Amino acid sequence: IRTAILVSGRGSNMASLIAAAEADPAFPAAFALVLSNRPGAGALARAAEHGIETAVIDHKAYPDREAFDRALDARLRESGIELVCLAGFMRLLTPWLVETWRDRMLNIHPALLPSYKGLHTHERALADGVKLHGCTVHLVRSEMDAGPIVAQAAVPVVTGDTPDTLSARVLEAEHRLYPLALSLWASGRAKLEDEKVVVSGEGA
Ligand code: GRF
Repeated sequence: IRTAILVSGRGSNMASLIAAAEADPAFPAAFALVLSNRPGAGALARAAEHGIETAVIDHKAYPDREAFDRALDARLRESGIELVCLAGFMRLLTPWLVETWRDRMLNIHPALLPSYKGLHTHERALADGVKLHGCTVHLVRSEMDAGPIVAQAAVPVVTGDTPDTLSARVLEAEHRLYPLALSLWASGRAKLEDEKVVVSGEGA
């Protein structure tokens, strides 16, 4: 299944997805495009090193979100993309784009949703004194950081943690989680029932 990864920055999650696909000939997603809204994103060079086509759609070149999202959608179609992974893509998408790609767009968020939607999740988790934190891969819906949860991974919060140490621990979990969640969804082992994701072969 032809898959695009949308990025804005360094692309460590993107790299973990590419590595998973390279390591397993049976990986159900084939990465056909890495698209960034920022021309300088480090992820672009990393993707190119792996022989993956890259594209830049600079949001600053568009008058509004609708125009940007239409260009994004057109570019995805041009590459025959069937599934989209957001991986540190720092733009809010319009409801139109989200609906157009409904159930064909995944996101990774650095918190155990529905806790800590939005930015600065590690700072907020530390401020609250929670003892478990983590990351979530979910299907994208128009409300930010909402949508059916495909998979989650938890990490402990330990004494002395700073936002940096905690985010490094969560990021390691992200790099394991995203390939797993994508593979569940792309293979059809994970399905939607009643706006909840169920995984076949799992259960009590
Ligand atoms: C990750 O923490 C991801 O969960 C969040 O943005 C960060 C992206 O990091 N949405 P990277 O670009 O994948 O290294």
